[in-house]
Amino acid sequence: MKKRIKFGASLMCADYLNLERDIRLLEQNGIDYLHFDVMDGHFVPNFGLNLDLLKKARQITKLPINVHLMIDNAANYIDEYIDAGCNSLSFHQESTYHIQRLLQKIKSRGVQAGIALNPATPLNTLEYIFSDLDFVLIMTVNPGFAGQALVPATLEKIADLKKIICKKNLDIDIQVDGNVSFENIPQMTKAGATMLVGGTSSLFVKDMDISESTQRVFSLIA
Ligand code: DX5
Ligand code: ZN
Repeated sequence: MKKRIKFGASLMCADYLNLERDIRLLEQNGIDYLHFDVMDGHFVPNFGLNLDLLKKARQITKLPINVHLMIDNAANYIDEYIDAGCNSLSFHQESTYHIQRLLQKIKSRGVQAGIALNPATPLNTLEYIFSDLDFVLIMTVNPGFAGQALVPATLEKIADLKKIICKKNLDIDIQVDGNVSFENIPQMTKAGATMLVGGTSSLFVKDMDISESTQRVFSLIA
């Protein structure tokens, strides 16, 4: 059964000085979820959003909150992010020793569990955890910064993952994150992406208001 494509907002690209205003605009314009990038300055050379902000965001919106942990030792922080109210959570394959156990833990707490793969990380790392996954986050840029260009090989990676999902008859979303632009969205969804992360490339676009950019994306994924 064809999945409806969901369009989320990468809050790290919103206007930090007017976050509540942007969240309200996103709600009014039908965004499906908030994408919350967490970074530790070690797994990626940058610092994203933090736990206190997640707690504040949780208090003011009913939108699903999807946390993307770009950190080392994600296992040490899962409970805090779940307690803070996220609805789904991904951590990176590359920085996690006990992946299956962590996925189980997330699901046992009633939160959708995902694994995030950097552009260079092969799909075969998913071989024995498909039954533990609700979604796979395919990084379509190298994580850490907004405004980067798509890594072209990731389009093939999305298509390859889609083939595996179809062959195994799995109910797993393919989330894409990084340069999800008006130009790239058709290729990403054609390849099989079902959860988009809108950042500076298609949502918080310079000289375009949120209602215009969301309309444009929804017209591309209808
Ligand atoms: C990159 C972040 C993405 C990024 C998307 O590490 O995870 O969410 O901010 O923004 P653009 O569209 O600028 O790539
Ligand atoms: Zn992200």
